[in-house]
Amino acid sequence: MKIIAIYSSKGGVGKTATAVNLAYGCARSGRKTLLCDMDPQGAAGYYYRIRPKESFNRKQFLKGDLEPFIRGTDYENLDLLPTHFSFRHLDIALDERGGAGNELKRIFACIEDEYEVLILDCPPNMTLLSEKIIMAADLVVTPVIPTTLSILSFAQLIKLTDKLEVNRKKLVAFFSMVDRRKNMHSDTIAKFGKKKMFLASEIPYLADVEKMGLYRQPVAVSVPSSAAATAYAQLWLEVWRRGALL
Ligand SMILES: Nc1ncnc2c1ncn2[C@@H]1O[C@H](COP(=O)(O)OP(=O)(O)OP(=O)(O)O)[C@@H](O)[C@H]1O
Ligand SMILES: [Mg+2]
Repeated sequence: MKIIAIYSSKGGVGKTATAVNLAYGCARSGRKTLLCDMDPQGAAGYYYRIRPKESFNRKQFLKGDLEPFIRGTDYENLDLLPTHFSFRHLDIALDERGGAGNELKRIFACIEDEYEVLILDCPPNMTLLSEKIIMAADLVVTPVIPTTLSILSFAQLIKLTDKLEVNRKKLVAFFSMVDRRKNMHSDTIAKFGKKKMFLASEIPYLADVEKMGLYRQPVAVSVPSSAAATAYAQLWLEVWRRGALL
């Protein structure tokens, strides 16, 4: 089972939109896929119209007792593990368990025979949980809005992966919410886009992505022939190819 984390310490950069649409693309390519909503805000579950079961919480998650709480989506090959409000203290709980070793790898090992790909929608922070996610993932996909502060967060992520002694090759970035009419966006892409860590695919700033909150479906379902659907399909292909190289 490949673990693909959609991660950035920065909030509102398009992580959830990416996780939701890549998970759909992955499932549609015939791979049994689980989207795991690690963010207590619960946006990924919301987009897939899924509520967690009452009895699910951080404790069940940490025990690795995931299967009873996994829900089917409306789409073939795609299941979702909803988050819980108690996930906001996952980093503290991991710390209390000693912080060493990779608890997340152990937890996800419980489902590795069931799924070919696990996609994690991560919360926006840089905590012990983020470190465990980066260590457990085979690929860390990070959306970068082409602005100074997003580039700064990306540089911090590289620093963190180095500190964790994680292979830099598993870190991939792409430009998110791109508006080519803005000089800062074009200039930033021109300056950083050629770096190996950046994928060629980018996701433009598009109303169809924003409207996912209304349709509560991946864009490939709500607006299949749109620029948004094409952009995410392209991104998925590139992410998968990059992962296959590792
Ligand atoms: N390409 C895009 N074009 C237009 N709007 C977008 C795009 N990507 C995301 N959005 C919108 O921007 C907002 C933030 O996106 P999203 O929730 O995916 O970011 P996030 O990084 O997961 O945020 P958080 O850090 O809070 O989890 C949402 O309202 C979403 O609809
Ligand atoms: Mg999010």
